[in-house]
Amino acid sequence: MEDRCRTCLFLSAFMFFFFFFFLCTKTFLCFAADTMSSGQSLSLNQTLISKSENFELGYFQPSNSTNYYVGIWFKKVSVQPRTVVWIGNRNIPVIDPSTSELKLLEDGNLVLFNQSKVVIWSTNSASSAMNSSEVVLGDDGNLVLRNRIRPSDVFWQSFDHPTDTWLPGAKLRYDNRTKKSQILASWKSPNDPTEGLFSLDIDPSGDQHFLLWNRTLRYWSSGRWNGQIFSGIPEMRSDHFFNFSYVKNENETYFTYSLYNTSIICREVLELSGQLHLYIWDEDKQKWFLFWSVPRQQCEVYAFCGANGVCNQNGLPFCTCMDGFEPRSQKEWKLSDYSSGGCVRKTSLHCGDRHTFSLMSKVKLPANPQRLTAASADDCKLTCLSNCSCIAYAYTSICSVWDGDLLNLQQLSDDEDAGEDLYLRLATSDIRKSGGKDKETHTGGIMGGVAGIAALLCIALFLWRWRMRLSIGKSNTVEGSLFAFAYKDLQNATKNFSEKLGCGGFGSVFKGTLPDSTAIAVKKLESLGQGEKQFRTEVSTIGTIQHVNLVRLRGFCSEGDSRLLVYDYMPNGSLDYHMFGQHDSAMMNWKTRYQIALGIARGLSYLHEKCRDCIIHCDIKPENILLDANFSPKVADFGLAKLIGRDFSRVLTTMRGTRGYLAPEWISGVAITAKADVYSYGMVLFEIVSGRRNSEHSEDGKFFPTWAAHKIIEDENVLALLDCRLQGDTNAEELTRACRVACWCIQDEESHRPSMGQVVQILEGVVEVNLPPIPRAIQVLVEIEENIHFFSEETANPNSQV
Ligand SMILES: *[C@@H]1O[C@H](CO)[C@@H](O)[C@H](O)[C@H]1NC(C)=O
Ligand SMILES: *[C@@H]1O[C@H](CO)[C@@H](O)[C@H](O)[C@H]1NC(C)=O
Repeated sequence: MEDRCRTCLFLSAFMFFFFFFFLCTKTFLCFAADTMSSGQSLSLNQTLISKSENFELGYFQPSNSTNYYVGIWFKKVSVQPRTVVWIGNRNIPVIDPSTSELKLLEDGNLVLFNQSKVVIWSTNSASSAMNSSEVVLGDDGNLVLRNRIRPSDVFWQSFDHPTDTWLPGAKLRYDNRTKKSQILASWKSPNDPTEGLFSLDIDPSGDQHFLLWNRTLRYWSSGRWNGQIFSGIPEMRSDHFFNFSYVKNENETYFTYSLYNTSIICREVLELSGQLHLYIWDEDKQKWFLFWSVPRQQCEVYAFCGANGVCNQNGLPFCTCMDGFEPRSQKEWKLSDYSSGGCVRKTSLHCGDRHTFSLMSKVKLPANPQRLTAASADDCKLTCLSNCSCIAYAYTSICSVWDGDLLNLQQLSDDEDAGEDLYLRLATSDIRKSGGKDKETHTGGIMGGVAGIAALLCIALFLWRWRMRLSIGKSNTVEGSLFAFAYKDLQNATKNFSEKLGCGGFGSVFKGTLPDSTAIAVKKLESLGQGEKQFRTEVSTIGTIQHVNLVRLRGFCSEGDSRLLVYDYMPNGSLDYHMFGQHDSAMMNWKTRYQIALGIARGLSYLHEKCRDCIIHCDIKPENILLDANFSPKVADFGLAKLIGRDFSRVLTTMRGTRGYLAPEWISGVAITAKADVYSYGMVLFEIVSGRRNSEHSEDGKFFPTWAAHKIIEDENVLALLDCRLQGDTNAEELTRACRVACWCIQDEESHRPSMGQVVQILEGVVEVNLPPIPRAIQVLVEIEENIHFFSEETANPNSQV
């Protein structure tokens, strides 16, 4: 009895101590609060943590760096290195943190002392609250220095002094009184947060924001705010998910954004690459998900490769040095810090020495040329030679020369139409070292006979092509198999564009009839920032592409600013009308659907693999699949991506419904391959099977393709996916093939997706298809997009031939 009691007592005591101990530890570990008062300080390993533990403030070290900085990072984001959103002392690091401290002084300033007790950073805030200020880290990531007694009295806040990150709730701001703006500036390199060359700034007079190189040169602009969106980034708009606003008053002009669902972790950051990225944290995958990126192409970032560097959008890495040059610092170059160091000459040029010119062909010429008049390329070359400081020349119709460093030089690829020849002055010894690529010409040397003949041939060819072009200019001449229409003829054929079939991102489509009673569809292209010459080249390429599953281009019209395309008219309209319309879709039985799926695949396979130049369609969706009188599918609008060029991604993102068909790589901004079409095809195939838009939610509230993937892979119940209007009328084997292949097509990894040729073989039954893995990216997109409705307006006509 006594024994038992003693045990009992002992146990109670143990538990009491255990509990006490637990409390204690908890108290010590949780030293961190969200607030620091006058006189208090923070040293290494101590942090402030915001109330809901979203953000943490303390000392950190960038990876591969021995320096310390005081900054704020996402506490709930587990990636290493930490995702830092703000830094106090970005330009002056702490070398030895053991004796450093971050202190809120009695005078109301938050200051950082370095190892020698010297102030290296301070809020420099003028406060009236002696001994009664406090600094609070908010759940929005804003560090606020304020009056403890009157908290609305804010002396300083980190949101007014951003580093490279723009958090929801923060303002991109211009102070109308001081005429100063708060800029975001990129880091200098992955291990150095010092202000880099790229910055984001706001232009209150232009109602826009833009990206700058070296604080002066604009290389990207958002376009003007029209009350709802910035014209250049229509994808950034208020919806159920984001709220964007632009405010102008006498004190300030600012742009800000927020998320309705504040539990979603999101950040906008000006990257080292000079691109502005919007990221969303994917909790499941433990990864930052890139939501969008501007400018889309790396080489659009001004002087990304630094002085004398060459940017190649299709190269990996993007940057190389020009011939005869090498990176100024191999170390920086290896850390992908191209922009600040750039390249330097291997051998310096001396005025009296022998020099040669090395040819770089198909380049976008460097910035800031001096333009001179010269009668010929030879004149231009001589002009450059006679001036010791001239380091390169190019002769188009005028003579351009450069001295000093070359900036923003880009190498274009062979399949791009633009591009000039640049001649680069090098020491002759450098040419020999680099193996004498046969391209150089000797200074002062006489052009060899061979070159002369070649030049003559070139001129002859040029004259011939020029004459060809002139002759095409006249109406009703035939270019290849294409007819060049006069604008007036098309006006007559369409009864002055009176019968509109639909409209989309590229322009409106009208029905017309030719004098021989052939029905045609005329597409009036809008906002084509392209010259006549390039338009004709593109159109004649499209004209050579003929396949039973591709809509045939009959001709075109190019007069003044008008650009029109003339197609065969398709009496049955577009696929979406028959798939999703409310009317009787008796024609859309399983057999027809399967033939349509196969036909689209054959058309795309022809575009990707069988044409002379591979064409990526870039905009596969039911609206672009037209049906002829026999319900045989014909893919429309191919080749337009190239016609529209640079603006294409913009056009895409503004078009209703398109986004649901876009492959993840469109959003992340990497190079687009034919596999992007495969992805879109997979999305369309799901719709053909189910008879409804993927964007409509399925039974358990999930995005249809995700739900479908689970049904196919886990339940192996493909019948559940079938359009209920078919009442089970299907071919089980074909249905299985179609579902599996659709699921393969929408894999995140491009390399996992089949080619369109393989898709054709699978659908034809020539090749077997295994069970696919569940695609991951769509799930993320879905979780995010469940709330986002980028494209809520009804703009397209269901019967559109767009
Ligand atoms: C602030 O507090 C310090 C120490 O408690 C004291 O020495 C100082 O006089 C105070 N200053 C004011 C203006 O109250
Ligand atoms: C940036 O501009 C400053 C002058 O404003 C100049 O001294 C500096 O060399 C420029 N940087 C580069 C990389 O050109």
